[in-house]
Amino acid sequence: MEFKGKLALAKGLRGKITVAPDKSISHRALIFSSLAKGTSKIRNLLWGEDVLRTGRIMKQLGISISSNFEDEQAESEISIQGKGLRGLQKTDERLYCGNSGTTMRLLLGLLSAQSFASSLTGDASLNKRPMKRVTDPLSKMGARISEAQGKDGRVLHIDPAKGLINLHYQLPVASAQVKSAILLASLYAPGETQIEEPKACRDHTEVLFKAMGVAIKKRDAVIHMQPPKELQPLDLTVPGDFSSAAFFIVAALLVPDSELLIKDVNLNPTRTGLLDVLLQMGGDIQIQNQSEQAGERCGDLLVKSSVLKNISVEGDVIPRLIDEIPILALAASCAEGVMEISDASELRVKETDRATAVAKELSKFGVSVQEKPDGLIITGQSAGLQSPHQKIQSYGDHRMAMMAVIADLLVPGAVAIDDVACIKISFPEFMGILGKICHRT
Ligand code: S3P
Repeated sequence: MEFKGKLALAKGLRGKITVAPDKSISHRALIFSSLAKGTSKIRNLLWGEDVLRTGRIMKQLGISISSNFEDEQAESEISIQGKGLRGLQKTDERLYCGNSGTTMRLLLGLLSAQSFASSLTGDASLNKRPMKRVTDPLSKMGARISEAQGKDGRVLHIDPAKGLINLHYQLPVASAQVKSAILLASLYAPGETQIEEPKACRDHTEVLFKAMGVAIKKRDAVIHMQPPKELQPLDLTVPGDFSSAAFFIVAALLVPDSELLIKDVNLNPTRTGLLDVLLQMGGDIQIQNQSEQAGERCGDLLVKSSVLKNISVEGDVIPRLIDEIPILALAASCAEGVMEISDASELRVKETDRATAVAKELSKFGVSVQEKPDGLIITGQSAGLQSPHQKIQSYGDHRMAMMAVIADLLVPGAVAIDDVACIKISFPEFMGILGKICHRT
């Protein structure tokens, strides 16, 4: 689906919005509840394509869930009849993960520990993304995973293991998906598992496991987990996704005359690196109504138009804002000075190579962007962004598409984008919400 622009603003971005429910928490809530003993209730699950894939797969694995995940309309509450740690059932169907790295990587961990064989595949983008980072540690635990090329691309076959052993594993990359795959498999290993993180990355698995009664804690940089006898069911309301809020935060900072209140956002500190960076850049963002839900910090964000100054972004903050780099790069393009982003080579293995994609697409707005192997150097345009003469490409990447739609608010002309349908992967209501706080000509 093409986007032809142009979104027009009456007077800045004003109003009160809520954003899509958190994608990472939604995936985990579905998978973990399926393993619990008893019925879990999940409210405000993200009705985005990636999460729906996870939901359908859990049903294929024999879990009874109140939704068939086929209707377009989000359901306000779903119930999941968990069948315990040993309750999943064999299916001969191939498990299709679509575009969702989280689905594939987490399920590789879980399915490695089952007494039946299974196979996973995905779309063209996912089938190119690295899985060795997950299959390596899982194989060390005793998992039996092999890879084959089917007619529609890569298929990962998982054969039943002859028992899994515990690892003390040092993560080579700060990846929450790898960490979570190991933790899921380790629910079925006999003793303590230890995972050492080079840099802290999102910890929703640990938070939810704790809420379900698992003995899991982090000491220094090491996560220690004991296998539980069973998981307790969840009663959870999924908070708003900070990564989805990010597009509106940056939009409200950059569009003059804006004052936007974003309600009920997850503010887990492993996710809010962008907030820290934007505050250091001079962004006027206030956190209000802070609360805690199922161990996750939440709150409202009041964002006002601001003049931003670029800073360097590197080191420990990178895993805490990795998904936000496309929209951060847009903010940097409109700020004073130069932003150098380093230590972010993970950008190259996301839904698309986001370092190349960001550099290529922002340059169409007249921005000087230089690619580095591990990041980007962006020179802010004090004269403002130019209207692009060429169509912007999203590469089928939801976060690239949303970044380009926000850029449309910042230029005089219309921005044409080749494909915005991919936005439904993480934020199906994005256009509707944006439309309510501005209007289209
Ligand atoms: C996610 C972890 C991150 C992130 C992705 C979701 C998760 O990926 O980029 O969008 O839910 O665990 P990595 O684990 O590859 O860093």
